[in-house]
Amino acid sequence: MNKTGSKTILITGASSGIGLETAKLFKLCGWDVICILRTQKQCEELECGIGVRAYSADLSTSEQTADICERIIRENFPNGQRLDVLFHNAGYAQPGAVLDVPVDALRKQYEVNLFSIHEITRRLQTVFERQGTKIIINSSVLGFVAMPYRAAYVSSKYALEGWADTFRLEAPKYVQICLLQPGPVNTNFRKNALKMYRANINEEESRYRDDYQKVVARLSTERSRSRYAKEAGECARYIKKLVDAKQMPHRAPFTIPTHVFAILKRFVPSTVLDKVLAKGI
Ligand SMILES: NC(=O)c1ccc[n+]([C@@H]2O[C@H](COP(=O)([O-])OP(=O)(O)OC[C@H]3O[C@@H](n4cnc5c(N)ncnc54)[C@H](OP(=O)(O)O)[C@@H]3O)[C@@H](O)[C@H]2O)c1
Repeated sequence: MNKTGSKTILITGASSGIGLETAKLFKLCGWDVICILRTQKQCEELECGIGVRAYSADLSTSEQTADICERIIRENFPNGQRLDVLFHNAGYAQPGAVLDVPVDALRKQYEVNLFSIHEITRRLQTVFERQGTKIIINSSVLGFVAMPYRAAYVSSKYALEGWADTFRLEAPKYVQICLLQPGPVNTNFRKNALKMYRANINEEESRYRDDYQKVVARLSTERSRSRYAKEAGECARYIKKLVDAKQMPHRAPFTIPTHVFAILKRFVPSTVLDKVLAKGI
């Protein structure tokens, strides 16, 4: 809680999608909202737009991530004020077959989707709230099932789930940790994934050229083709409910596909499940 008595949330990746809608909703509910965005221009727009405090850092860079955390602590938590909620949301997908993704692209995927979360959590531990800081980590349905041409993203989210499961066993009792597992949500996610595909995958020389046409077609649509896709605002409201609950669940599946795949993963042999998942190009 801050000096004025309102609660404080820190959100990463609030320039668009789930992070932006969550920032808007918490601000509307009277929370003190601090955001980390990639660029200074995005920060200025968000500060003018919804009146939150925004800090810029490219989370693929450990130095920038570490520096911004120190600055946030200095400027917002100087006298033992505490952080009520930490929402690790920033992330993106690097599409491409295992045999095609360059190691640097895989490394960058891990920098943002895993290492930045590790860095931010370690740096901010001094401002966790004794009455119960809540940490929500945005994983994915792809944090527990795989689909073709998504190995970089899938493996980063699997790793993230392992990281969070371990942290939960060790964390101080007053820290709650919840893995949010969205299925398809309409955001800039696909557009950004297509950008990373174009930047790092050499489709002309790939044995997967034909399948890549389907990948590109899927990523090119503005909205998800899934009829179960949700809007980012719905996800933000779900996050608010998680935060409002006295005790957060260890895992919070969001959208029907996440629920269905959780059941299939548990009860269907992987030889059979693979046949279903292989169709998800
Ligand atoms: N949408 C889905 O279907 C879906 C499903 C499951 C899980 N998720 C997860 O939900 C989270 C939010 O994604 P979204 O769907 O809301 O997509 P989004 O609209 O693309 O938002 C992603 C956010 O992460 C930020 N980000 C990415 N790389 C960054 C970097 N290097 N430094 C700083 N910020 C960076 C983006 O900033 P820029 O605007 O600067 O790129 C943006 O603010 C992600 O962790 C994603 O894995 C999404």
